[in-house]
Amino acid sequence: MDFTLSDVQELTRTMVREFAERELAPIAAEIDQNHRFPIETLPKLAENNLFGIPFPEEWGGAGLDYVSYAIAIEEISRVCATTSIIVETHTSLALEAIFNYGSDEQKRDYVADLASGRKLASFALTEPMAGTDAAMQESTAILKDGEYILNGSKVFITDGNYSDVFVVFAKTNPDPALGTRGISAFIVEAGLPGFTAGEGERKMGLRAANTSTLMFSDVRLPADALLGKEGEGFKIAMSVLDAGRVGIAAQAVGIAQGALDAAVKYAKERVQFGKPIGNLQAIQWMLADMSTDLEAARLLTYKAAHLQDLGKRFSVEAAHAKLFAGQMASRVAGMAIQIHGGNGFTESYPVERAYRDAKITEIYEGTNEVQRMVISRALLR
Ligand code: CAA
Repeated sequence: MDFTLSDVQELTRTMVREFAERELAPIAAEIDQNHRFPIETLPKLAENNLFGIPFPEEWGGAGLDYVSYAIAIEEISRVCATTSIIVETHTSLALEAIFNYGSDEQKRDYVADLASGRKLASFALTEPMAGTDAAMQESTAILKDGEYILNGSKVFITDGNYSDVFVVFAKTNPDPALGTRGISAFIVEAGLPGFTAGEGERKMGLRAANTSTLMFSDVRLPADALLGKEGEGFKIAMSVLDAGRVGIAAQAVGIAQGALDAAVKYAKERVQFGKPIGNLQAIQWMLADMSTDLEAARLLTYKAAHLQDLGKRFSVEAAHAKLFAGQMASRVAGMAIQIHGGNGFTESYPVERAYRDAKITEIYEGTNEVQRMVISRALLR
């Protein structure tokens, strides 16, 4: 594996960093403090081709590789993790599912609009009783007279109040003997009769991101809303989540980089005992440990993204990357607060937001424990 980045990958970092500093940094603290969804950012993300980074240009994407995509998520997250989750769930989960499993017609109908950012998409798997145990789907989509009738509810759906298109999982055959093979995936458009979204959750971190409940009451879906084959839904969800986990690892790396950058700046400016605290070995060692931890997570993340670029199976590498990077981000953000002392505990410095935002990277798109299940099952198989 080549450990140097290509010119295109370096350029992606430069361009996305400039975009994030220019467009996201000025509002990142305000939208977080007000729990305000940054609706005005969506057209800017679209103009900068950030909604379909790893998809071909002929489909409206930027035509870049998955390592470049990871770098872009990292750079957005370094400044505003709320914005990165909007891009990440749209790209790595919803668009990835439609691009990889959609029929030619479905791809024609949705991919260009989504990859170009004209429309926003969500991924709707989680239910009140199907969180970590994603197979316990209670939503049903029963075929009747040529239509699927969708009933049930979803929780914690990113962008649920703002998306135009949803990839929704439901049981097409509730026979318990079928297990995960009774689950199918569907493309569901917002605004269909019987489809409603609840209010956004108030959260500890990613406070400006929209996370809502979806309700389906006798929603009539045309037969061609089925994504992939009947019974293939669980595999679609799992394979797409492999991609998503690399995206969340990149998000964790970006959050940690933002926290480390803030800690370095503070260590140079803050004077105690007559000199900047960066002159103290206690602070120097913390910074060195943070940087080492971060670099290890970044390499695991790029390795998983690189395998994705090669078209190889990367489930275990995605789990390694997400497990390590999520925990690393929590550790690094915690140390960044420690370096800031009391100031770090206030909203006047960005590290308290990084600390709150980091936690969810250990939870969503599969908890740390799920990543350990994926890794240990592969070891013991
Ligand atoms: N790719 C393709 N197929 C896969 C796969 C993968 N990565 N992982 C599993 N499968 C297949 C298996 O091969 C198996 O197929 P067969 O029936 O043909 O043998 C089938 O799927 C069932 O697999 P398991 O037996 O491993 O399933 P399980 O019920 O034991 O579940 C689990 C395993 C890993 C715990 C899984 O339920 C899981 O990943 N849970 C976490 C769910 C999750 O990540 N949710 C995130 C929600 S989305 C979100 O957070 C988005 C957001 O808004 C931020």
